Amino acid sequence: METARIEEVISDFLTLRRAGANLTTLCPFHHEKTPSFSVSPVRNTFKCFGCGKGGNAAKFLMEHEGYSFPEALRWLAKKYNIEILETKPTPEQLAAHQEEESLFILNDFALKFFQNQLPGAGLDYLKNRGFTDATIQEFGLGFAPDSWDALTKAATQAGFKLEQLQKLGLTTSSGKDFFRNRVIFPIHNLSGKVIAFAGRSIPNLPNSTNLTNSPKYLNSPESPIYHKSQTLYGIHHARKSIRQQDECILVEGYTDLIALHQAGIENVVASAGTALTTEQLLLIRRFTPNLHILYDGDLAGIAAAMRGLDLALELDLNVKVTPLPHPDDPDSFLRRLGIAAFTEYLATSAKDFITFKASILLTDVANDPVKKATAVHSIVDSIARVADPIKRSFFIKECASFTGLSEAILTAETNKAVLALPLPSATFLGVRDKPGVNSPLEPVPTGREVGGVENHLVYLLLEHGADILDPKENITVAEHILAHTYEVLEHFEDPRCQRICRESIELVLAKKTVNAGHFIAHEDLDLSSFVSSLMHKEDAPVAPNWEQASSSTKTDGGPSCTEDITKTILQLRLKALSQLCEQNLMRIRNTPPDDEQALARLLKVHEKLITARRELAESLGLVRF
Ligand code: CTP
Ligand code: MN
Repeated sequence: METARIEEVISDFLTLRRAGANLTTLCPFHHEKTPSFSVSPVRNTFKCFGCGKGGNAAKFLMEHEGYSFPEALRWLAKKYNIEILETKPTPEQLAAHQEEESLFILNDFALKFFQNQLPGAGLDYLKNRGFTDATIQEFGLGFAPDSWDALTKAATQAGFKLEQLQKLGLTTSSGKDFFRNRVIFPIHNLSGKVIAFAGRSIPNLPNSTNLTNSPKYLNSPESPIYHKSQTLYGIHHARKSIRQQDECILVEGYTDLIALHQAGIENVVASAGTALTTEQLLLIRRFTPNLHILYDGDLAGIAAAMRGLDLALELDLNVKVTPLPHPDDPDSFLRRLGIAAFTEYLATSAKDFITFKASILLTDVANDPVKKATAVHSIVDSIARVADPIKRSFFIKECASFTGLSEAILTAETNKAVLALPLPSATFLGVRDKPGVNSPLEPVPTGREVGGVENHLVYLLLEHGADILDPKENITVAEHILAHTYEVLEHFEDPRCQRICRESIELVLAKKTVNAGHFIAHEDLDLSSFVSSLMHKEDAPVAPNWEQASSSTKTDGGPSCTEDITKTILQLRLKALSQLCEQNLMRIRNTPPDDEQALARLLKVHEKLITARRELAESLGLVRF
């Protein structure tokens, strides 16, 4: 761990930029638009001030690559040419291995089993489709024989438990092989481990174990190591190329991906027939912000592209779409055109999302105002999902030229659509798990209850008020706290805290010391008992989720006290800003939609408020995803 330089390790995965003594980049672990991911060569650690993830080089590899700790160490050892002496696990150790590890081992066994079964019908089929031996080898393609239990038998004979086979879905609950008489496509995770399989039936093959109308593809069910919504087929094979090309091509099918890869287009992943999820798009965004959707030209393909498009826009990906002529898919189209013409087609036919949507939706509606309006609304709805206002206005310009509508009208409509999206207060915090869906909003995590923060501020004020905060400027803690909170006093929830602060301001102005004794001796007995119990309570160790609770709560005026004060003040300001945001949103909602001037003004205020709020939240390191 001493040899492993954090900046060198992380640079293998992310592009780091200098920022003073540290290095920085967009955090790969959560959705953000301004970098809060920081790498400290001096401390040899990384830390994201947005989502809070941090640690040493091994921790980074575990988080980023999904490695276990031993795997991370092996990776580092390899990078730095350090020899690790490992002993072969004994059967007992093997049994004691974590469940996941053993499931991976079983999947490896199944992979080899399927690969061994390939010669014959499976291989003929793949060869017929034009796949080379090298490709078949690279993607680990195999075949499940036309048998009820060939794999199940082989695996149990090799010592694997039926229960585990069933956990992976390789064996059905009735003890039969799940994949029968099918070509097998192993599905890998980011680090190249087999987590699941897909099986394609072969047309016109003599068949005794599948119903004639069984689906073309079967996929492993979810398991402890396979989470469909987080998986992209081919990501392991594509990751390097995606980063090199700075673009990720998204196709639908397994065979589409393999065909493109074989032709030399390697920066491809496949959504494999499921609707795109946020997790999948975030996975792509770890490697590039540029997404190129290449979907089938049929209606289903177009509909899938449309859905993927809106999601991708919300995650601030730059989206291009290349529609293929019906009834081609990327695989058949490539075979028809050849690689040169195919590449040329991609380069010349790619459309930005407005053009794509407009070309689909505005075809044949020129004379139908109602249909045309529906189309425009749909386009505007997509534009509204673009977070960057500058990009948004460019898209509005483009939309205007397509539709012949004025930019002013389109802007007003877009603004309306922005408001119809889930609350921006949640958007900017990134706490929506499914963009576009009105998922419940999570509150800003504060570490303490808000009332607790107010209490804590008062505690700091009364316990340390007379201490000198900054000897150079001769400022007391009380002066500092009050100077930085008086603007937000009206937002306090606890009237007692508010009152103590207000009276403390008068004490400061009268050059009297601010301390607990003054309020404990207060003529208002409620206030007096509040303060005495507050001082008492705060002296005890508290607040498990308050960062560095034990060291910062019971403070002795040292640097940790300063940090505590800063944090507490920031939290209260954050809370006040949130309230202002809500109030402004209410105002926006109550503004008549045709009052464009007022709306524009309020939206500007809104953007300023949420930017300020985001910056505050980020500087607090409170944003959790
Ligand atoms: N798919 C699936 N189950 C099905 C049909 C399709 O899971 N019954 C998924 C597969 O991931 C498939 C993708 O949807 O690769 C696209 O489907 P389709 O276009 O029908 O298949 P292709 O990928 O073109 O496969 P092939 O060329 O072998 O027909
Ligand atoms: Mn196909």
